[in-house]
Amino acid sequence: MRRCVIFDLDGTLTQSEEGIFNCVAYAVEKMQWEQPDAQTLRKFIGPPLQYSFHEYLGMTEEQAQKATTLYRERYTTVGLFENRVYPGIRTLLRALKQRGDWVAVATGKPQGPSERILAHFGLDRWIDRIVGPVNSADAGKAELIRAALPETWDTAYMVGDRKFDIEGGKAAGTQTIGAGYGYGSEEELRESGCDLYAGTVDELTQLLCGDQPLPRGQFLSMEGLDGSGKSTQLRLLTDALERYGFEVVHSREPGGCPISEKIREIILDRANEGMTAETEAYLYAASRAQHVHDVILPAIRAGKLLLSDRFIDSSIAYQGGGRKLGVEEVMDMNRYAINGLFPDLTVFLDLPHQTALSRRYGASEPDRIEIEGEPFHARVEAAYREMIGRHPERFVAVDASRPAEVIGDEVARNVISRLMKMEESNG
Ligand code: TYD
Repeated sequence: MRRCVIFDLDGTLTQSEEGIFNCVAYAVEKMQWEQPDAQTLRKFIGPPLQYSFHEYLGMTEEQAQKATTLYRERYTTVGLFENRVYPGIRTLLRALKQRGDWVAVATGKPQGPSERILAHFGLDRWIDRIVGPVNSADAGKAELIRAALPETWDTAYMVGDRKFDIEGGKAAGTQTIGAGYGYGSEEELRESGCDLYAGTVDELTQLLCGDQPLPRGQFLSMEGLDGSGKSTQLRLLTDALERYGFEVVHSREPGGCPISEKIREIILDRANEGMTAETEAYLYAASRAQHVHDVILPAIRAGKLLLSDRFIDSSIAYQGGGRKLGVEEVMDMNRYAINGLFPDLTVFLDLPHQTALSRRYGASEPDRIEIEGEPFHARVEAAYREMIGRHPERFVAVDASRPAEVIGDEVARNVISRLMKMEESNG
């Protein structure tokens, strides 16, 4: 018999406060009312809007109604998507579908907006049914949960972050799991009598999936010349990925784990002037071998998204191109290090080497690689371009001469839509 897992939406799958706060601020400004402080704003999560405007901001019924209309005006177009999926939720939903569970959402948020949010984040592909109130009539949580269940079932769990979810689940005859990472406190969830309690998404995954292997995570790398703005773009991309519920693990090359960090020191030390190009290439490969073993593979196997600051393409570009060892030769030197593991996607920050170098100089003391002259960096750039030409399907190349936010938006849009396509084809 199929197992059923029903989720609440706000505070269980997604965090919606950003949109709620922005829409309250919008309505209040339009009403020329005084902006509420942070504590008052938090009270808007949960209760009906009109009640909150009246009760917490002291508006008359009529004013509260007008404020609610203004709020909705912004919410339905923008606020709806100012939302974050809890990191780890994507992998959990994928794992449940892989097991063959019936997965549904029962939420107090109206049906239409709930469907739009889940579709926007690409979570709907793993959800069999979405149930929310269809008109403003106050549907009870138990009723919503019953409607979210299939016709026949034998084991079902209701997962939610507030006592209404736990009470509703009990009334509908399901087991209940308190999601302690949401808006309700552990005390509230325990007092309402939840059967199980998960303080984090990882704990929830453990409760629902036990030791079953999780679906494979993703492997992304970011590449570019020194001075192309990788640090800023890594930060922006991480934020965007986490918003979509990917659980991002950061790493870097050379380095990423204790043994490889020691190798990194040897490689970048300016005292090692006499290092041959071959030694350098083997050291990068050695650092990579350990990094793949200690960090990258374990993260992917745990269903996480590993984002590495540089990977094999750096060796192709710097040692293959810059040091003139040749692309094929460097690929050969790395064969045992990567054992067939290439990134699912590689972001390339495309900047002419002259611009990258001028940005780089003066920023900090250059290391043994950065100290190389212009022709070296010109060869690095050319080798990157050749690699992208050979494997266009793996690269997201963006013009990195523009303002950081513009680049960040383009990278995030491209990467996320490609990751979603991969999820579609891999389940
Ligand atoms: P790092 O300080 O991390 O530079 P950045 O912030 O620009 O990434 O130093 C890494 C240097 O090592 C960088 O100049 C590129 C170079 N490198 C290679 O030459 N080959 C490689 O395989 C890797 C991973 C890096």
